[in-house]
Formats: sequence, structure tokens, C-alpha cells
Amino acid sequence: MKVMVVGGGGREHAIIKKIKENKNVTEIFALPGNGGIGADATCVPIGAKDIEAITDFAVKNSIDFAVVAPDDPLVLGCVDSLNAVGIKTFGPRANAAIIEGSKVFSKNLMKKYGIPTASYEVFTDAESALQYVETAPVPTVIKADGLALGKGVIIAQTREEAVDAIKSMMEDKVFGESGSRVVIEEFLEGPEVSVLSFTDGKTLVPMISSMDHKRALDGDEGLNTGGMGTVAPNPYYTDDIAAECMEKIFIPTMNAMNAENRSFTGCLYFGLMITKDGPKVIEYNCRFGDPETQVVLPLLETDLLDIMLAISDGRLDEMEVRFSSGAACCVVMASDGYPKKYSSGYEITMPRDKNIYVAGARSEGDKLLSAGGRVLGVTETAPTLTEAIKKAYDTVKTVSFANAYYRKDIGKRALAATKNTSN
Ligand code: AMP
Ligand code: GLY
Repeated sequence: MKVMVVGGGGREHAIIKKIKENKNVTEIFALPGNGGIGADATCVPIGAKDIEAITDFAVKNSIDFAVVAPDDPLVLGCVDSLNAVGIKTFGPRANAAIIEGSKVFSKNLMKKYGIPTASYEVFTDAESALQYVETAPVPTVIKADGLALGKGVIIAQTREEAVDAIKSMMEDKVFGESGSRVVIEEFLEGPEVSVLSFTDGKTLVPMISSMDHKRALDGDEGLNTGGMGTVAPNPYYTDDIAAECMEKIFIPTMNAMNAENRSFTGCLYFGLMITKDGPKVIEYNCRFGDPETQVVLPLLETDLLDIMLAISDGRLDEMEVRFSSGAACCVVMASDGYPKKYSSGYEITMPRDKNIYVAGARSEGDKLLSAGGRVLGVTETAPTLTEAIKKAYDTVKTVSFANAYYRKDIGKRALAATKNTSN
């Protein structure tokens, strides 16, 4: 079986390594992949947004199954295009990927179907948005409607910050058309939990929960990044919370999408905040999270490709999806300076027999060179979170490249919470 994975980051590397475990797989192509992914798949220099070239490649190479991992191609209709030429694909069609592609769409969906989320207002012109924040309580949260490379959310601590955010999104168009509409919403407080789920539109199976670490510096300080590390499971996601999420959020979301004739199939990601009034949706993503995937998939015991095939045939109900009872920790190693200016092009040395997921690297001869802000993620699994964290940091010490930077406290908050809940 020939499989193609669209995308080229750490998440895609984790998906590819897992798919490789399936005995029926003869070849995996990554479009475009990266220098590190090249160890596990054949990288093809086609950009993840080049839908036409991706579809062409799939046809010419008789691809049996495709996985579209990043948000951009999903929102642009990559699955629709592949399905139109008869290629089985994992991922939502564009009319369902809008759940991530438009925050106005997802907020209106939640309001219409009574799914708990922060209260909000939508603005289509800067003047009324600016007028609104004059009296809105602070902190307040300003979100660009469309995709913005994960940077379209501003938590404004003061009215001045809110005004700046609105002006930069709506007047200066720093996110292009993504900022032509904005959502201004209530600031929520509580621990955050990521829950990825498998769904074929009829059945929804949540995966093991996880916790992202979005800020650049230890102690959750510094700038927002694409994610500096993750742990799974997330101790704040207790059995009671999980049951409540299933009943009030997950199943209602699947049903709402069906009711809107936008049946969602693939991986639906729930970004949740556990507030004092119960769990609420912070965001939906139409895809696997990055770097959540790097801790969730190593704990998956059921064959990933079998699950994906079942989803594309609409028979997820026949699958028993099992996760290990252990824990995982992923420490992201970045280029010092990220998410601002950084330098790269340094040789990476790392063990080959570990779960190291490469995000930003290129190969030059037989060398691997850093080529991005987030360079790689080191994942270890173990029976307990304490052991998984220790193992991950031990493995980090065996990886080296100049200018490497990583947080030293991934999982610390989760461990503290575990101790509190078991007291
Ligand atoms: P996003 O880019 O949508 O993942 O949002 C980035 C981060 O902003 C989230 O992970 C939250 O930490 C924070 N955030 C988003 N919406 C809210 C909200 N309504 N209240 C508090 N924090 C929020
Ligand atoms: N880790 C958050 C995301 O993938 O959007």
C-alpha cells in the first residue's frame, strides 16, 4: 500500500513513523516532508498548499491512501480535490475544515447549538470594534477570523492593547484578509486541555488528553510559540470532566456539523479550558495538533492506518481504539531566539533509534542541518509522567546542534496537578 502524507513538520513525522508500523505499507511519501522526515519517508518537493500538484502527484504515483495533516490545505480543499480523482483520504473536506478556518463560523456554530464557549461579538469594521472595547471588560480576547499561523489571538490586558490589536488586524491587515472580521470574546480562566478525536461523522472517539506549553520561556513566560512541549495524559482532564466534555461538547459538535450538512471526518481537535463553570471550547482545529500529536500517537496501541482507513470507509464504530495506560512527554528543541529572530544551518547529531520528530531541518549530503525555529521534538513514554519527563530530558542531552534552546520545565505544572489531585 502506497501512502502519501501532506505536510512537513514534527506532527507529520510522528504520523509517518506511526503509519510505518502497518505491515501493508510499502512506501510513504511526504509532501514536502523535511530533511529529518527523509529517514522515514520519501520526501517530494511539493508545497503543502499546492493542491493541484499534490493531486497530480497522487494520481501519477497510484497513491492508495492520503493523509492531509496541516490546516491550510484542508481549508483550501485538498481532501475534496483528492476525493474527486478517487483517492481515499484522511481529513475533513473544506466545508467542514471551516470549523478551524473561520472563528466566526465556529463561534456561531457553538452559539446555535448551545456548546459551551466564551461569550463573544463579531465585528466587520474597525470603528465598531474600537467603540465596543471602550467599555468592554479587560482582559479581553481579540481573534482574527481566519487562519493566521497560530498568531491571530491577542489577549489584551488593557484597553490600549485591545485598540492596538484591532487596528493592526483590521486596518493594517497584518494577517491579510484573515483579519477583515474579528471576534472579541470574554477572557476565560482555568487550565487548558487539548483533546484530539477520531471521527467519521457518525462515531467520535476521543484520544488520550494532552497539555501544550505555548510560551517560549520556563514558567509559561515569554512570547507565544507554536508549542514548546507537551505531555499526555493531562491531569486536569479527569474522568468526570471527560464525561462532561463528551456529552456537552464532543457529540454535540459532531451532530451540529451534520445538521449543517458539513459532516466532519478526520481528526477533530478540541482546545478546552476547564473553567469554574465547567469545560468550555477555546478553539477547534480541523487536524492533529502540533506538538500534541508527538505525545498522543506514541501512546496509541491500535494501528493508526487501520483507524484512518476505517474512518474513510465510515466504519469507525467497528474499531476498538486503545491507548497505553502510561504517559508521554515531548520536549521541543528550538533555535535560540525563536519565535523571533534566530539563526540556523547547524549540524544536528541525534540518536536514530528514538522517537525524535523533526520539524525544521534539511539534509545536506549525509548531514542534517537545523532549518527552522522549532527544530525537533524529543518524545519518551513511560508508565508514569515523572519517568516520561525524566527520560525525555535524558534523551535531549544526547541531541546536539549549535544554538539549541529548550524549556526545562515541560510537564512541571502537570506533575504538580497530579500531586494535588491524588492528595
Ligand atoms: P489559539 O491561537 O486559538 O490556540 O489561542 C491561543 C491561546 O490563547 C489559547 O491557547 C489560550 O491560552 C488563549 N485564549 C484563547 N481564547 C481565550 C479566552 N477566551 N480566554 C482566555 N484565553 C484564551
Ligand atoms: N498545539 C496547538 C495547535 O496545534 O494548534
